[in-house]
Amino acid sequence: TTYPNDINRLNAPFLTMFESLIPPNEEKVKQKQLLTVLEKLVSKEYPEARLFLYGSCANSFGFSKSDIDVCLAMELQNVDKSDILLKLADIFESNNLQNVQALTRARVPIVKLMDPVTGISCDICINNVLAVVNTKLLRDYAQIDVRLRQLVFIVKHWAKSRQVNETYHGTLSSYAYVLMCIHFLQQRRPAILPCLQGMETTYFANVDNVECAYFDQVEKLHNYGSRNGESIAQLVWAFFHYWAYCHDYANDVISVRTGRTLSTTMIKYLVRCSKRAKDWTRRVGNDRHLICIEDPFEVSHDLGRVVDKFSIRVLREEFERAAQIMHYDSNPCVTLFEPY
Ligand code: GTP
Ligand code: MG
Repeated sequence: TTYPNDINRLNAPFLTMFESLIPPNEEKVKQKQLLTVLEKLVSKEYPEARLFLYGSCANSFGFSKSDIDVCLAMELQNVDKSDILLKLADIFESNNLQNVQALTRARVPIVKLMDPVTGISCDICINNVLAVVNTKLLRDYAQIDVRLRQLVFIVKHWAKSRQVNETYHGTLSSYAYVLMCIHFLQQRRPAILPCLQGMETTYFANVDNVECAYFDQVEKLHNYGSRNGESIAQLVWAFFHYWAYCHDYANDVISVRTGRTLSTTMIKYLVRCSKRAKDWTRRVGNDRHLICIEDPFEVSHDLGRVVDKFSIRVLREEFERAAQIMHYDSNPCVTLFEPY
């Protein structure tokens, strides 16, 4: 990799930016407080139900002042999820929570609300246990090397500023960007992150017939990336360089699960042997292989499925723009994040 000579001048401003985006401790306290309030309200109606935080408020990649994602785990015996969501909406509304709304027809049905005491908004879904488990995987990766958290914050901040973090417009979710960053750090030589799912199993969960197994004793991996001395400025430069000029969009699948890049050709082959990957076949058939990001546990789930032939151009142009700025601009810490 050939960074510009003076790339390290950007370390200090990138780190300052990272620090300014991290939620302060009192915000975390308020989130827990709200969770306790919700738990009390829910348990009056459903005593066995449990609430879990997931998404960016729990995976350590959350910005200050973001909404929180809550998963309600309970056994459903012939009860409709929609009915429960409507019931919950009733309970919340009559207990002074604001902007309560049940979205029963969404891809992931939820009830939304805002707590006037803490000012926090939240989305509550039911039994999305896989999301709770992948949240833990992301949080565990973040504890191995601080550069992952720094890189993700900068990439997410860039994606939000440039409006390429909007799945309803065909660009990528925050979750997809985190997987891209983990994959990228797994590929550095020497590697900065290991492949936890390729190591001894110390954590196991079977969720909706998906086996989730990986090495979660990450405190033992604190020095893992220390043989690689790349700075955050160098990594941001290389990340955008990779997505602008090195990634084979038509043939490569990003796979954090294997710590490697898989080929779509190989996946087509695997499809013939397994039913699991059937969603990918359809995509291969439709030639909609525009960017492929494998979910670490739900391997038939492609986080790039939202991308279409228009938004892929937007995305790739933004990666190229970012790469050019990192290479040539005199003030990338400003230009990179200029609102679209
Ligand atoms: P921000 O809210 O943008 O800060 O990030 P987030 O990580 O909370 O992302 P988001 O609210 O979009 O997603 C919440 C969680 O849902 C993710 O962190 C994943 O754990 C889980 N998830 C599983 N599959 C998907 C998927 O296909 N798309 C998205 N967006 N999330 C998924
Ligand atoms: Mg979220």
